[in-house]
Amino acid sequence: MASTSTNSTTSCDSSAGDIKRIGILTGGGDCPGLNAVIRAVTKTAIMNHGYEVFGIEDGFLGLVQNRITQLTGDSVSNILTVGGTILGSSNKCDPLHYYTGTDDDGKPIHKDVTDRCLDHIHHHHLDALVVIGGDGTMSVSKAFVEKGINCIGVPKTIDNDLVGTDITFGFQTAVETASWCIDRIHTTAASHHRVMVVEVMGRNAGWIALHTGVATGSDVILIPEIPFDYDVICGFVQDRQRRGKRSSIICIAEGATPKGGQQVVRELDPSSPDPVRLGGIGKVVADTIEECTGIETRTTVLGHIIRGGTPVHNDRLLGTRYGYHAVRLLSEGKRNRLVVMRNHSVTDVSILDAANKQRIVPLDDALIESARAVGTCFGDIPCCRKDR
Ligand code: F6P
Repeated sequence: MASTSTNSTTSCDSSAGDIKRIGILTGGGDCPGLNAVIRAVTKTAIMNHGYEVFGIEDGFLGLVQNRITQLTGDSVSNILTVGGTILGSSNKCDPLHYYTGTDDDGKPIHKDVTDRCLDHIHHHHLDALVVIGGDGTMSVSKAFVEKGINCIGVPKTIDNDLVGTDITFGFQTAVETASWCIDRIHTTAASHHRVMVVEVMGRNAGWIALHTGVATGSDVILIPEIPFDYDVICGFVQDRQRRGKRSSIICIAEGATPKGGQQVVRELDPSSPDPVRLGGIGKVVADTIEECTGIETRTTVLGHIIRGGTPVHNDRLLGTRYGYHAVRLLSEGKRNRLVVMRNHSVTDVSILDAANKQRIVPLDDALIESARAVGTCFGDIPCCRKDR
């Protein structure tokens, strides 16, 4: 990767001397590399600028509940390679719509508790917050920005769906882990001459399924951006059988849908600002294939396995570079920026640009084109082989 760019088109309305204490939190679903960012922010801030750093526990929940403790160099020692987050995280807390229970009809009750958070920020004399998260975290941060709190965002999520950045940390580890799993599924699929459907996370974006599918040579890749046709998939699998390929691997994103169909919802979590939890489309596809083709078909849902574990080296590098850049922005007096990767350089954009948006796979993505060229089926158009 190229070195850190200085290309920061930022508003510069506070002097560098304004910062003495910073708060740091990890919001949303966890992912590998969070600790690398926490370490980089804390060490850069303390060792290079003399700032004091305060860790906020469990994302915005810790801000609401005033669970904030000082971090030292020792607190972040030996965490670079460790998955998860030493601060804890929550994907359920939006202080603007804080869940307080249900009414008599079972409907969720939400309350705006941002003022309570502001009290806690002021109580600890925090001059800025480093918010490490995805689109949900950036959306919540917007409320604090509007109330005058300087928020510097760092883009996290295995889904890789944050607007403004070419890559989020955590994504590459998720793809690596999913690929490791599918490599193993290949051999059992071959032994039993089965179709194996492997479902991966990613919400409404197909980045994980696309990259994992291509990296593992999956025969079919199904992503939310390309609605699929059952006839195309079944025809493709049968065509493979006719050519002597007795097993097939289908890598499917949890958000994939058949043409004219709907996403499969695993559960609705009313206490979460984003209550929909996807999951289950893999089994639906597997059942349909078995019924239509008569070929024995199995489903594996990788689920949270791909969110855990030690980050791959690239996520450690990304986390370190992103964390360093976040503190550098503060030291330069910048406000309300999101650290991003653009064309292999670390730079930054307005944090408001990333709020409430998701970056999905464009249909002209080069990887889709390359995969189609090597015979991968995306379930949308018949893909008959000409090399027989
Ligand atoms: O955003 C990360 C993610 O893992 C998604 O890929 C997935 O849809 C969701 O979080 C799962 O959320 P939870 O951990 O609440 O089940």
